[in-house]
Amino acid sequence: MSQPKVIVTRKIPAACEEEARRRFDATLNATDTALTPETLQDALRQADGLLPTVTDKLSAEVLGAAPRRTRIIANFGVGYNNIDVEAAGRLGLRVTNTPDVLTDDTADIAVSLLLMVARRTGEGERHVRGGAWTGWRPTHMLGAKVSGKTLGLIGFGRIAKAVARRAHHGFGMRVLYTDPFPPKAEEARALGAEARPTIEDVLREADFVSLHCPASPETRHLMNAERFRLMQPHAFLVNTARGDVVDEPALVAALTAKTIAGAGLDVYEREPAVPAELLTMENVVLLPHLGSATLETRVAMGMRAIENLTLFFAGQPVRDKVV
Ligand code: 8YV
Repeated sequence: MSQPKVIVTRKIPAACEEEARRRFDATLNATDTALTPETLQDALRQADGLLPTVTDKLSAEVLGAAPRRTRIIANFGVGYNNIDVEAAGRLGLRVTNTPDVLTDDTADIAVSLLLMVARRTGEGERHVRGGAWTGWRPTHMLGAKVSGKTLGLIGFGRIAKAVARRAHHGFGMRVLYTDPFPPKAEEARALGAEARPTIEDVLREADFVSLHCPASPETRHLMNAERFRLMQPHAFLVNTARGDVVDEPALVAALTAKTIAGAGLDVYEREPAVPAELLTMENVVLLPHLGSATLETRVAMGMRAIENLTLFFAGQPVRDKVV
């Protein structure tokens, strides 16, 4: 029997490429150039399965490619806002994602951003490398203390809980959270996390606000001008979720007006574009969407997507069904 044809849209770790080649008639992307909407449509016409990433915008229009051969889209990533899942569902396409395997790494990056922005470590590094350091002095580059402060989590899913564990048990932080689907009380208690009924309640109390909700029409620009005004002037925003959860012009305005003290960002509304104003602000830490970027985790993500494809082609229920 011939192997199912699978198109992998970007370069993925070598171990995953080998595994994809072993299990499927796999087309890999040796040059790692992002596919255009047209080439994505060609892929949908040619392959039984697609293994795309966040850079592949699978809109309703793209998914409408006809005649379509693809029956499964195994996304490389836990977030799937690059795919119009409603349209995929309507078209009878199976969509899967890669949860669990990137939880710890993404939590590590959130905590890293929190520390970097509070302790001014990006700025400090630039200072030393730029030859501006004239020596130690008691008032040089003072940041904000992290230990014992209050962390507010918007969303309390897997990654937020991993952040809470690190913040509470590692830094003795008080942790607040709000989530429309709250966890079991004992689970939150074990993480030292207290529930608040609304986002606004969390924003008013937190010294650090970290975003952990999926990107959806409901969460688009969840952090807007009004909500930035509720944050304390000494508070920092951390975003490792998705760029469109934050209204970027409103964030720039809040930082300019000193409505908030700073921000640590791993994701942006129009990646790889970053608002020009942010590039000039020393109290902003900017990372290039590194949440899951460790070799171990990227291999695990690739293998998880391959597992979903394998199960699907074997006629079995997939492990990580989105639709
Ligand atoms: C990925 C991510 O790097 O999984 C996610 O949702 O944001 C990142 O871990 C990206 O999605 C790759 O497609």
